[in-house]
Amino acid sequence: MIALYDVCYVRLGTRDLDTAARFATEVLGLEVAERGRQSLHLRSDARAHTLFYGEGDPAAQAVGFEVRRQEELDAAGTVLEALGHAVRRGTGAECAERRVRDFLAFRDPSGNAIELAWRPEQGPGHYRGSRDAGITAFSHVGLCSTDPARDEHFWTEVCNARVSDRIGNAPLLRIGQVHHAIALFPSPRPGIQHVNHQVESGDDVMRSFYLLRERGIPVVFGPGRHPSSSARFLYFEGPDGMVFEYSCGVRLIADELLYRERQFPFANSGFCQWGAAPRIREFQ
Ligand SMILES: [Fe+2]
Repeated sequence: MIALYDVCYVRLGTRDLDTAARFATEVLGLEVAERGRQSLHLRSDARAHTLFYGEGDPAAQAVGFEVRRQEELDAAGTVLEALGHAVRRGTGAECAERRVRDFLAFRDPSGNAIELAWRPEQGPGHYRGSRDAGITAFSHVGLCSTDPARDEHFWTEVCNARVSDRIGNAPLLRIGQVHHAIALFPSPRPGIQHVNHQVESGDDVMRSFYLLRERGIPVVFGPGRHPSSSARFLYFEGPDGMVFEYSCGVRLIADELLYRERQFPFANSGFCQWGAAPRIREFQ
């Protein structure tokens, strides 16, 4: 079994790096770790980077998951190849760009680009957001799934993810104590469906709601509260149509033996207990 330790970075392509940089700093509130001619590394917590923008095709996306031991990378490669996944080892330059010591790249059964990263770097120092959005960490990704049942099997049987809850057939999957690090939403095509950052409090969620509205950033869901994870949330649209989420108060699941996943309806009430209606295709 492939032991994922944490989700550690997201890589997004963009045709307009300047716009992406402005959004990431002035709106989202991330810190620029490094700006290159065709690349942008952004921090959201103690890690060296958690979001990377590369100039190019917006469909060029990837999600990185940390594994703890290098032997696990080799073992993961063997397992994935036996299941028919094409696996590629990162080059030295690619590892340097990701601030990791080593990584494997492959595609999940839906075709999402996934990277298993060994020893992602920390720091330097504290994360200092470009604006005070209250961000405490990059926390989870939503992934589009062309077959959620098949992909749930991949993430829970081939990898070590556990189902925390389901909304319809969409599983919310944890790999540590946080209610979900990965959420799989039905879609005709693969892709990163949303990128979540945790913020400290409900006040941060609401402050951002008014700021986004004032700046004309499309708010596509919320403010609301997820009945599954208990998190208060706000979803909004960034460059290249990518949906970003702030949330706070996500449930932690400490007791693996006693916890039982729950079923929520694939309806507005399954996504928000306050009555907010999503304007997000994969939530409708
Ligand atoms: Fe989310």
